[in-house]
Amino acid sequence: MKILLLGKNGQVGWELQRSLAPLGDIVALDFDSKDMCGDFSKPDGLAQTIRSVAPDVIVSAAAHTAVDKAESEPELVRTINALSPGVLAQEAKKLDALLVHYSTDYVFDGQGTKPWIESDAAAPLSVYGATKLESEKLIQQSGCRHLIFRTSWVYAARGGNFAKTMLRLATERDSLSVINDQIGAPTGADLLADVTAHAIRAAELQPELCGLYHLVAGGETSWHGYASFVLDLARSKGLPLKIATDAIKAVPTSDFRTAAKRPLNSRLDCSKLKKAFDLELPNWQTGVERMLTEILEKQA
Ligand SMILES: NC(=O)c1ccc[n+]([C@@H]2O[C@H](COP(=O)([O-])OP(=O)(O)OC[C@H]3O[C@@H](n4cnc5c(N)ncnc54)[C@H](OP(=O)(O)O)[C@@H]3O)[C@@H](O)[C@H]2O)c1
Repeated sequence: MKILLLGKNGQVGWELQRSLAPLGDIVALDFDSKDMCGDFSKPDGLAQTIRSVAPDVIVSAAAHTAVDKAESEPELVRTINALSPGVLAQEAKKLDALLVHYSTDYVFDGQGTKPWIESDAAAPLSVYGATKLESEKLIQQSGCRHLIFRTSWVYAARGGNFAKTMLRLATERDSLSVINDQIGAPTGADLLADVTAHAIRAAELQPELCGLYHLVAGGETSWHGYASFVLDLARSKGLPLKIATDAIKAVPTSDFRTAAKRPLNSRLDCSKLKKAFDLELPNWQTGVERMLTEILEKQA
């Protein structure tokens, strides 16, 4: 199986380099790859890349993910997040290749408390959310075989992440304010990459499994719950923190002014994915604890 992986150095892309390796030969590109175009701001270049690689599977992990910055450059974000995935889909259709793509909880408006299912009406609040929703539609309309995974609150041990920021702040400050009215599930890039590999294998054997799926870790929390979990764990592992447990203040989203509006209810119901692919999704704490252990061992 020949796999073209785009966005190889992002959180998910990096983990996909590992998880896809046993499935076949991988051509992995980044936006600044020299030999072939992997730049999502250049849809024509991407089309040429696909024609020359002629992959069986295209995995697209590239995106403009700076949600606040996206509000000030909507045309560029639309090209990267929607039009380029649309071109990937057209090229995939011509080759009869499978296209794997990631979307987001930000396609929803965050009303209510019920976990969203795939068929719920989308109503994005931000440029990022709107362009990701457009990518889903362009892929679906192309008629290519596809797997689209909507996920949320992605973290990885490599690079910066929310847990690392909390750890740093907790050693510098004696109080912190963290949002407690956005609810979702922190999801590891490693889990996304592993499930992607399983799903590709299954969808290649059973094309009827293609479609749109919600994919997040089990359970739910707020950013405040996430921060408290990280700091309690760090303390239990002996990391000296300046902040006391009760000094992590829970505050509403309205206390923070950001360019992009974020949904409050980011709960995603993953029943469809679990049933279709016969998979379990571990609770978010399992992956966060593992990631934190890696970070703290590196610091020791
Ligand atoms: N992160 C989240 O919380 C989250 C939540 C829901 C869904 N998702 C989706 O999950 C997928 C993977 O996200 P991630 O967390 O791995 O994001 P990420 O770490 O930001 O990775 C995205 C990658 O795309 C690259 N990129 C940016 N502009 C590009 C361009 N013009 N051409 C090619 N590549 C470009 C980025 O490079 P630079 O880093 O150099 O800019 C980065 O390597 C994306 O589709 C994203 O929308 C993410």
